[in-house]
Amino acid sequence: MGVDLDLVSRLVRGDSLYTPPGGEVEPADIIPASFASSAEAKEAVSRGSDLLASGRVAAVIVAGGQGSRLGIDAPKGVVEVTPVRGKSLFCLFAEKILALRRRFGHAVPLFIMTSRENDAPTRTYFQERGFFGLGSQNVHFFVQGMLPSVTPEGRFILSETGGVFMNPDGHGGTFRALRDNGCLGLMASLGIEEIFYFQVDNPLVKVCDPLFIGLHSANGAQMSTKVVRKASYDERVGVIVKQGGRTCLLEYSDMADEVRYATDHRGHMLYWAGNMAVHMIRRDFAETVTSRGTELPFHRAAKKIVGLDAAGNPTRMDGIKFESFIFDALPLARRSVTLEVAREEEFAPVKNMTGTDSLVSSRQLQSNLHASWLGRMGVDVPAGVLVEISPLFALDFEELQHKQDRIPRSIQEDTYVG
Ligand code: UD1
Repeated sequence: MGVDLDLVSRLVRGDSLYTPPGGEVEPADIIPASFASSAEAKEAVSRGSDLLASGRVAAVIVAGGQGSRLGIDAPKGVVEVTPVRGKSLFCLFAEKILALRRRFGHAVPLFIMTSRENDAPTRTYFQERGFFGLGSQNVHFFVQGMLPSVTPEGRFILSETGGVFMNPDGHGGTFRALRDNGCLGLMASLGIEEIFYFQVDNPLVKVCDPLFIGLHSANGAQMSTKVVRKASYDERVGVIVKQGGRTCLLEYSDMADEVRYATDHRGHMLYWAGNMAVHMIRRDFAETVTSRGTELPFHRAAKKIVGLDAAGNPTRMDGIKFESFIFDALPLARRSVTLEVAREEEFAPVKNMTGTDSLVSSRQLQSNLHASWLGRMGVDVPAGVLVEISPLFALDFEELQHKQDRIPRSIQEDTYVG
């Protein structure tokens, strides 16, 4: 893989780096979660459904990460995450996409961004499992780019395995990787107009949610975002705000305390719109962002790197890595929709082994959601019992309602409904 020397020298000089947009920070315009039960929402759902039924929507998963924080040396997507069957993230997303095809009568092409490290195992994982029934022609893998890490003085670091030490270029690299791997061209030839983008770590994501697709499309938006109400001031999520009149995202690590802890006149959290990392992106906007003269800014982060010292011995040293982030494209969009959704229905990320945002908490949250659906149908799930409803049985509560006669009448032990 080549090194973009021009870019690296700009980054080392401090050019092309992220600087917060100027101007006053204000709360963003947000469509509240209550909108979902309004009459206008029906129109948006119908519009989104039409786009799905006519094959205009593709799904993109960014899955460049490894499951190392979860104790596995494999792509994060293979982590077994569902509460009863222990399906992997990849299996779950594939089943959701298969269920969409059955509902709308058109395949949703799935594009999976891998990294150089996990590309081969990711492909093998899908091949060995028959692409989970999606058909290999509907699943496309593309590898994200890499950038050299440098010493604090801006010198290249030699890697133990030979060559220059590189790190993945961040999920902002999705745009360029889609273009360079021919995926944007393929999407155009398939008639795709809209991209549903999500991260590999959230099993509750409503893949290709027709409401979100419809709202984004009806508003003529180029890039849109789903948000949840932050659970606490210090939750490690980015926040959608308006700055200088543009919708943009302030990442949790970059947020000033006066923004993080700001309150409204009732004393409630002012900047509560937590980024779920679920976006709608128009395909032609992705093309614009990758066109000549447009570049997302890079964020620099200090990290410890094992590289070779002057004598050629492996040494742990201070390094700097550069990454760009997909949400930095938001201010480039002429229009953007921000939609709030209920956290308990759509957000249960798996980031850590235990505690908050862990496998344990995520499994419980997935089970809680499915137990709530069953509860609304008169089937109580006792405390301590886990339930799981396959997306192939019911993608949502409405679908479950139509299968009343096929759900258990009473649940006393961990139960899989599929
Ligand atoms: C991320 C978002 C944060 C959001 C939160 C929601 C960033 C910088 N921040 O935080 O605003 O509120 O998720 O859960 O993303 N990935 C790649 N290639 C890369 C880097 C990342 O594919 O080069 C993928 C990973 O596989 C992962 C995702 O991007 O699925 C998120 O990366 P991570 O670094 O875990 O971000 P968070 O700190 O969780």
